[in-house]
Amino acid sequence: MREMSREEIEHILNTAERAEFRGDMLQGRVMCTLFFEPSTRTRLSFEAAMKRLGGEVVGFSKPGAASLSKGENLTDTIRTVSCYSDVIVLRHPREGAARLAAEVSDVPVINAGDGSNQHPTQALTDLYTIRKEHGTLRVRVAMVGDLKYARTVRSLGHGLAKFGARIMLSSPPGLEMSPELMEELEGMGARVEVCSLEEAVERAEVLYVTRIQKERFPDPEEYRKVQGAYRITPELLEGAPQNLVVLHPLPRVDEISPEVDHTPRARYFHQVRNSIPVRMAVLALLLGVV
Ligand code: CP
Repeated sequence: MREMSREEIEHILNTAERAEFRGDMLQGRVMCTLFFEPSTRTRLSFEAAMKRLGGEVVGFSKPGAASLSKGENLTDTIRTVSCYSDVIVLRHPREGAARLAAEVSDVPVINAGDGSNQHPTQALTDLYTIRKEHGTLRVRVAMVGDLKYARTVRSLGHGLAKFGARIMLSSPPGLEMSPELMEELEGMGARVEVCSLEEAVERAEVLYVTRIQKERFPDPEEYRKVQGAYRITPELLEGAPQNLVVLHPLPRVDEISPEVDHTPRARYFHQVRNSIPVRMAVLALLLGVV
């Protein structure tokens, strides 16, 4: 997301919005999904998007069954898979894995999440949802929760900054956004401020809630210290601005109470639905059919 221009982002969002897709656009094309970390939404929505465009899907979600378990390295795996497919979707725990893959692949590589670094198609989905809800991306977005390890925060921050958004940050102690990233976002055009959860709810137009990324903590004891540190409830949202919507990239654990799901502010399952036109647009654009 750091490298995409505002115009490129808008082009993807506009393509998704027009939804001028034909069911045979990607007929004869093959997408390969390589998931080295668990996923429900990203893998299945990419697969659904590809199939809705008439394409085929191969790949794995259990790397233990692939030749990597015999000692093959990632670059040989990517070189091999790029002989079989037209586009690769890669999720990997190592930061920079998608960039490395793109350097050795003969076909486009889509980063479906690389460690704590980036998750660009989630950010595009988030931007699409925010624009749909508010009609603009020049909004006040409060990012709540794990601002240290959540890759969705980093990618969305880069995207929002290009549109001059105001970014409010509320996190438990130890999970703050790094000063380097805050500075970078400001340099890209965002106005960034740290606030309490109460201030975020009072003033934001979008509450972007994230899960504490338990799997990224080097020390489980550190996770236990922050576990359950915040929870969005209908009571907390009482008195929030009329236009405040709650987003979450999901999966959630306990950071949004299920009672919020029944309020008009909850938009996280709309967000899930929006990932389909966005990922269809990404595939169709990368493969040159729109
Ligand atoms: N939002 C997201 O990346 O979800 P998954 O981990 O289920 O793919």
